[in-house]
Amino acid sequence: MTTTLIVLAHPDPRSFNGAWANATRRACEALGDTVLCSDLVAMGFDPVERASHYPHRPTDTCFDALKAQEEAAAQHLLPADVKAEIEKLRRADRVVFHFPIWWFAPPAILKGWFDRVLAHGELHCVQHRFDAGHFRGKKALFCVTTGSNEKESAFNGKEGDIQMLLWPAAYTLRYLGFSVAVPEIVHGVHGYHRGARQEVLHDRLAGVLDAQDRLMTEFDSRAFFRFNADTDFDENGALKADRPSYSHFIRKDP
Ligand SMILES: Cc1cc2nc3c(=O)[nH]c(=O)nc-3n(C[C@H](O)[C@H](O)[C@H](O)COP(=O)(O)O)c2cc1C
Repeated sequence: MTTTLIVLAHPDPRSFNGAWANATRRACEALGDTVLCSDLVAMGFDPVERASHYPHRPTDTCFDALKAQEEAAAQHLLPADVKAEIEKLRRADRVVFHFPIWWFAPPAILKGWFDRVLAHGELHCVQHRFDAGHFRGKKALFCVTTGSNEKESAFNGKEGDIQMLLWPAAYTLRYLGFSVAVPEIVHGVHGYHRGARQEVLHDRLAGVLDAQDRLMTEFDSRAFFRFNADTDFDENGALKADRPSYSHFIRKDP
């Protein structure tokens, strides 16, 4: 049986993002999945990594987040909210993230969830990352909304290529070993239309919710991001001259 974790990064469950996450939950339940949910804002998840999360560490030394996480992991002293999220990630076969684009990136609460939950020493270390990541075999999907339209979010669009805007978040999961599906993106989601245009938008979004059953049923046949293998890089971490790059973030020598 599949276990699906749904992570929602939006302040209001009545929003389209909230409704979309709910449609994912219903679709997964209909498939017989065990469904776990993390509605980050509703949970009051604290996205700021800081010393006060580690009351056991000495206060006379500078707070080093990686070391604090590693030491807490070794002593089973990670914060309770982080432990609970890690437990969900361990149980999940797939994770579906629902969020809007805010300032050309996922909302800060999701970045903070990455910062705190993907704890060094617990979920990754130098020996266990990328191809050797602990979460090899798990799959992730981003279900994303933008206020901008499809053309503005295209590779040559004024708002920047949405696939590139999502790459840092996708690569974060890849670092942990996840396979990351090509995102599902709904453009032009905003409350500014009135009259007929508002109705058109409403109908389009209702169609997205209706289509979520099918999307989740066909999850495994989606395209997945291609990432460079560990062996594509030399001992200094530079892409080997004879290897292709699968991302504009990792470039070939000009
Ligand atoms: C703080 C903030 C920043 C935003 N920045 C962007 C942006 O960079 N690009 C974009 O296309 N839309 C941007 N938007 C619009 C949101 O993506 C849009 O409101 C959201 O997708 C609508 O989904 P919802 O109805 O579920 O909230 C921004 C909205 C907010 C509140």
